[in-house]
Amino acid sequence: MTGGRLLAVSDLHVSHRENREIVKQLEPLSDDDWLLVAGDVAELTTDIEWALTHLADRFAHVVWTPGNHELWTHPDDPVQLRGEHRYRHLVEMCRGLGVTTPEDPYRLWNGPDGPVRIAPLFLLYDYTLRPPGAATKAEALAMAYKAGVVCTDEFLLHPDPHPTRDAWCRARVAATERRLAACDPGIPLVLMNHFPLVRQPTEVLRYPEFAQWCGTELTADWHLRFRTAAVVYGHLHIPRQNHFDGVRFEEVSLGYPRERRRHPSTRPLLRQVLPAPAGS
Ligand SMILES: [Fe+2]
Ligand SMILES: [Fe+2]
Repeated sequence: MTGGRLLAVSDLHVSHRENREIVKQLEPLSDDDWLLVAGDVAELTTDIEWALTHLADRFAHVVWTPGNHELWTHPDDPVQLRGEHRYRHLVEMCRGLGVTTPEDPYRLWNGPDGPVRIAPLFLLYDYTLRPPGAATKAEALAMAYKAGVVCTDEFLLHPDPHPTRDAWCRARVAATERRLAACDPGIPLVLMNHFPLVRQPTEVLRYPEFAQWCGTELTADWHLRFRTAAVVYGHLHIPRQNHFDGVRFEEVSLGYPRERRRHPSTRPLLRQVLPAPAGS
């Protein structure tokens, strides 16, 4: 490949009709454009499959990592698998569509400002990004219940066969860490994860109690330990670009229609990861 762009988006939430219409209109600018989809495509397997099929038909290549919404066992979904079993079902669906998942070899992108290795990460959260005053997971959860800010994951995102969501997170972190450490340090990585790898983006959340569902302290230095060209994430529905320790972090969410009405954005929906945008 000689041209093309590496683009990213997340939180398409296509169960919302307006979002589905937006996704129908997403187009690459060139035949060589790749698209990173950093989770929260939808809740129902039928909606996830519809969106990823549509995108895989249009872009030269699509890479996906799950958000928390894909992992819900929603009562309306004909697929009632839970936890790891649901995740593996989605991975097989993606493979059938030619979409790369966190379970596949990290693909090399050879376009402008490349080569880079695309690492889709599935790391979840472990209740360590706690609100001020909470020393433990139990205290953080109690504060969230008291504030009335409890993530729906508590009821629909099952960790089976892991005992808890945080245990699932720790297992994912350990396995992923080994994989990243084995990557050739001569080729920079683009790390994509639904949840931010560092705490700072959660510090602007309206409800600090929600941060416990937004990542883990265990990844706080990954952008320094592993040679990282850029980090792509979503989940917060606060699209922005930040630099931490000189590394570019892109929050690439579309989010809910009501959020866009409240905070209209002039940013392009598909965020350009590479070639690096001017000024970044
Ligand atoms: Fe989302
Ligand atoms: Fe999310």
